[in-house]
Order: sequence, then C-alpha cells, then structure tokens
Amino acid sequence: MPSTLPLGDPAPVDGALPSSVVAGADRRDFGVYLHVPFCRVRCGYCDFNTYTGDELRGAKRDDYAAQAVAEVALAGRVLAEAGLPARPASTVFFGGGTPTMLPQIDLAEMLHAVVGTWGLVDGAEVTTEANPDSVDAEYLHSLKASGFTRVSFGMQSAVPSVLATLERTHDPERIPLVVEWSREAGLDVSLDLIYGTPGETLADWERSLDVALAQQPDHLSAYALIVEDGTKLARQIRRGEVATPDDDLAADMYELADDRLAAAGYDWYEVSNWSRGAEHRSRHNLAYWQGHDWWGVGPGAHSHVGGVRWWNVKHPAAYQQRMTAEQSPGAGRETLDDETRRVERVLLGVRIRQGLPVAELDDEGRQAVAGLIADGWVEGRPALQGRVVLTREGRLMADAVVRRLLPS
Ligand SMILES: C[S@@+](CC[C@H](N)C(=O)[O-])C[C@H]1O[C@@H](n2cnc3c(N)ncnc32)[C@H](O)[C@@H]1O
Ligand code: SF4
Repeated sequence: MPSTLPLGDPAPVDGALPSSVVAGADRRDFGVYLHVPFCRVRCGYCDFNTYTGDELRGAKRDDYAAQAVAEVALAGRVLAEAGLPARPASTVFFGGGTPTMLPQIDLAEMLHAVVGTWGLVDGAEVTTEANPDSVDAEYLHSLKASGFTRVSFGMQSAVPSVLATLERTHDPERIPLVVEWSREAGLDVSLDLIYGTPGETLADWERSLDVALAQQPDHLSAYALIVEDGTKLARQIRRGEVATPDDDLAADMYELADDRLAAAGYDWYEVSNWSRGAEHRSRHNLAYWQGHDWWGVGPGAHSHVGGVRWWNVKHPAAYQQRMTAEQSPGAGRETLDDETRRVERVLLGVRIRQGLPVAELDDEGRQAVAGLIADGWVEGRPALQGRVVLTREGRLMADAVVRRLLPS
C-alpha cells in the first residue's frame, strides 16, 4: 500500500508559482524527476507510490508517457511565467515504481520532452532506475541511444532466501548479465543494496557485498530495510510470521559495508552512498540534499523550487484526469519559511561528506557547540545525543559520517 501524502495548502489549478521563487535561482541547479508508478508485483516491504495492473482503476500504462509529456510542457510554462531564468537541466532521473516496465520508446519520449523544454547542461546526468528482470541488452542500448547516461539497478541482495523474504522477483544470477550489458551499452552502473532483512545473517550480507563489488559498479547505495506501516512485511512481523529486524545486527552490517567498500576503493559521500571517485556521485540525489530546484513529474511526485514545495495527486487515475482536463496535477503545497529551510539544511547537511558549517546553526545550536568545546568535547567525539559530531574544521556531521574520517 502506498504511503499517504502530506496535507499542506491547496495547490492552484494552473500550478502558478509566486515570484518569490526567483530569488537566488542563478545559484541553484535545476533537475527533473519523472516518476513511473507501475510495478509488475509489489514487493512486501515497499510503500512507494506504485501500482500493479489490477490497482490502476482504469488508468492505462500505454497512455502514461503522453500525460508526463503534458506535465513537462506545463512545467515549462509555469517556471517561465514565474520569471525564473531559463536553466537547462543538470540532472534527469526516472524513478519508480519500475520505469523500465514501459517500452523504451516511452522513456525516450519523456526525456525528449525534457530536452525540448529546458535543454540539458553539457555532461548532464540522465538516470533510470531498473529492476534486473525488466531489461535486456537491446533495451539498455536503446536507453543509451536516446540520451541516458546511467542506470541504477535494484539488486538488494545476492542471496535467494533474502530476496524471497523481500519478495523480489529477479534471479540473482541476472545481476552480472545486466551490469555487463549496461557497460557494453556505455551506461554508468549503480547498484542498490538493502541490509537488515529479517533472517539475513552477517555472512549473507557479506556475500551480497562481495557479489556487488565483483561487478565493479560505478556507484553503490546500501540502505537499511525500513519496515513501513501498512506494508505486507509489517503485517507479517506483527503476526510473528517473520522475525523483527535486529538493529544491532543492522549496525554491524553497515560497518561491514563501510569497511568493504572503502577497501575496494569506493568513496562514501553520503551516509548510505558510495562511488568510484567524485565523478560518479549521484548528482541528482546530491541536488536534493543540497536544496537545489527540481520539478517532479507524475503521480505523487514532489517538487521544490525556491522554497516552495508541492506534490501531485497520488493515483495514476487521478493524475490522468487532471492531465486530460489540462489542469495542474498539484494536490498540495507549502512555502517553506526561513526557519524550516534552515532546519532542513541542518538535517540534510550532516548526512553528506562536506558536513554543515557551524555558522548555519541558530544561536542555541552555536551555544550548544561552544558548550561542547568548553566541556572538552573535541572532534570525533559523539555529541548532541551521539548523533552529531563537531569536526576539527568546525563542521557538524552525522556520527556515521565522522567515523569514516577518523583513523581507527
Ligand atoms: C522504490 S525502488 C524503485 C526502483 C526499482 N523498482 C527497484 O525496486 O529497484 C528504489 C529503491 O528503494 C528501495 N526501497 C523501497 N522500499 C524500501 C524500504 N522499505 N526500505 C529500504 N529500501 C527500500 C528499493 O529496494 C529500491 O532499491
Ligand atoms: S519493484 Fe521497486 S518500486 Fe516496485 S514494489 Fe518493488 S521495491 Fe517497490
């Protein structure tokens, strides 16, 4: 079951943005996210906004690309009318759901609309997520030919019993194949892993890391499994059919990933993300963490432009209705006040390698840091409830980030 949307204020029917979004736009990058809300089956742990064939209430996958293209056209008009300077997209990201469930020509059509509306900066990053069993060599070659630069596979694990608990449909034997085909096509490759699945042992996780590293991906993400309310997995755990995830074991798994990936030459740049050198970092995700502007296209997609954040109607049938009526698909929005923006900068800033300048804190925060120094807390020592650490460079970072900076 997909999670619910935030409340917020109603979004205007024409999607118009206030002129306040223009301030500082020349210092912010612009990216585009295109959500594809379809999956063949729903994995038991997932509450993303995605729908299987029997949940579509009349919406048709075949019609989806045309609706997304219509939203791109609307976005082009709304941004121009707000007075924003023309900014080519630095990054484009197709996420899901399973974008690669659509025919490749549909993804090409959507990307073409983005390029036609805003253009792309030189060297733009253009990514699609893909399930390993949803692509073949021809599909991947077509992606490259239509302008994609990068593919991110949901590998999750190399261990069949772990994949079975997660209700993933792909055969782990497919991972080396799809990675090889992507390379041959000239695409950068990222692999997504999940750790902490009920029943997964440290040895299972080690095997998944080994198999992932043997593929020499350009980028790796490792996320702890979150048991989301309302999912089948949450119900199975509640009924005692599946074990509750063990937080201590998950922490050991995280540390093992950190050691293994560092030893294999991967740089971490965000708590859960590693890459082979800075040029392979996910620039799209970094833009989210650094508060740049992006337009999210599709059902339930979220957008942020100059301190205004909004989200679209959630169900593909409701989205289809809005697009057919030539209305904005926006469902709700909020204008972030200075304090909310600052708190978000703090929460996101401590997750990334650069950390957060202490100057970004309010008086109370700075006083807390001064108190830490006076009390003899030095860099690398857990502070502020063990979650945040002050470094020698005067930056705050999440302690999981700092641990990597310190000699062991
Ligand atoms: C929503 S999926 C979309 C891409 C594609 N369908 C796939 O599964 O790889 C993106 C990533 O989010 C991860 N994800 C979804 N639900 C999660 C959860 N409850 N805990 C941790 N990761 C999750 C998936 O495993 C996947 O790697
Ligand atoms: S394939 Fe991906 S998006 Fe679809 S249900 Fe599974 S995790 Fe969620």
